[in-house]
Amino acid sequence: MSMVGNMPVTRNRMARPDAARSGSVSGHRDERVVKRWPSDRALKLLGIDLPIIQAPMAGATTSALAIGVAAAGGLASIAGALLGPNEVRAEIGAIRAKISKPVNLNFFCHADATSDPARETAWRERLKSYYVELGLDPQMPTTAASIAPFGNAQCDLVAELMPEVVSFHFGLPSADLLSRVKATGAKVLGTATSVKEALWLQQRGCDAIIAQGWEAGGHRGMFLCNGIDTQVGTMALVPQVANAVHVPVIAAGGIADGRGLAAAFALGASAVQIGTAYLFCPEANLDPVHRRALLAVQDDQTIVTNVFSGRPARAIQNRAVRELGPMADDVPAFPLAVAALQPLSVKSKNRGSGDFTPLWSGQAAPLARGLRAKELTRVLAVEALATLMRLCPADAHARQ
Ligand SMILES: Cc1cc2nc3c(=O)[nH]c(=O)nc-3n(C[C@H](O)[C@H](O)[C@H](O)COP(=O)(O)O)c2cc1C
Repeated sequence: MSMVGNMPVTRNRMARPDAARSGSVSGHRDERVVKRWPSDRALKLLGIDLPIIQAPMAGATTSALAIGVAAAGGLASIAGALLGPNEVRAEIGAIRAKISKPVNLNFFCHADATSDPARETAWRERLKSYYVELGLDPQMPTTAASIAPFGNAQCDLVAELMPEVVSFHFGLPSADLLSRVKATGAKVLGTATSVKEALWLQQRGCDAIIAQGWEAGGHRGMFLCNGIDTQVGTMALVPQVANAVHVPVIAAGGIADGRGLAAAFALGASAVQIGTAYLFCPEANLDPVHRRALLAVQDDQTIVTNVFSGRPARAIQNRAVRELGPMADDVPAFPLAVAALQPLSVKSKNRGSGDFTPLWSGQAAPLARGLRAKELTRVLAVEALATLMRLCPADAHARQ
């Protein structure tokens, strides 16, 4: 058993791919470690040793980050939304070349946006003065963002690569695509921001529900409603989802240290999905402007905004958010809005400014530490176990 400090964490053994794939790791995991967690439902379902899922973060996750998490016993994730098929192949290949552990491949399921030229022109007009200020031609052509929703091509990729876990953001793909994914044997996770969404996902066959609270960084996974004012915080959402569904619940949003992980169990979750805290790892793909902003951000400096992509997402407040949003009625639909701000983001970043860049961050960023992914994953687990034992020492002794 490996140790961190004087705390046993995980055997960190290499599971055979077939064992990992089946989700049954009996004989490949130290059952004593599993028993230390208040619930082993997610561990057993996903074939992992620690109840920590490294969030798939489009643009920021790398195979190096994922390998570190998997090596510590958490669930490695690759975000497929911004990657072409060959890039996904390369990332999954790089993980599998290094480690034989389950991998989660994640996709977006948004409705394909229809272009609305009048709306897009009006939005460009709104941005005109910024283009001029930065010395850019306001009429310059922009490249449409390539964020494809999960379709046949992505489904073929899943069938080819056979990730042990497939997770979806913004709902689920059509029933036929989903049944093709499930036929590969992959466990399917869906993101819910309300009890209604959680029940919808469970009814369609999700094996576990990621309950994403308001605190979360990046895009809100919401898909059955548009209004952000009624979105629920992690503390209130997780127990209500846990009461409503019979599948395991994974808490997401605002969890950045062991206390948050321990609290997630108290709320009825059997694992957590952590994004922002992993952005601080050196293995995350982050431009220097974003990294600097994360290191300085305070608890009350992030906000949910739609100005960067057309969908609500939590980011650090910057000039674009303050002057165009935070929620703009006239922003083009997701993901068409990405294109218009892109040249402003690139130009201002070259000048060392994050004024027009989406500086994605959750509310718990100040709790994060810049450890390497493997170490961070272990430290989170150790802290959580220590917190659980402190809160309930008799129970902890009974378990040993
Ligand atoms: C930079 C960034 C990018 C994200 N991209 C994705 C993504 O591609 N797919 C996804 O399912 N969730 C994505 N998320 C949301 C995470 O899965 C998760 O819900 C969130 O990070 C949890 O909250 P936390 O950031 O407070 O840990 C992203 C989050 C961040 C911070």
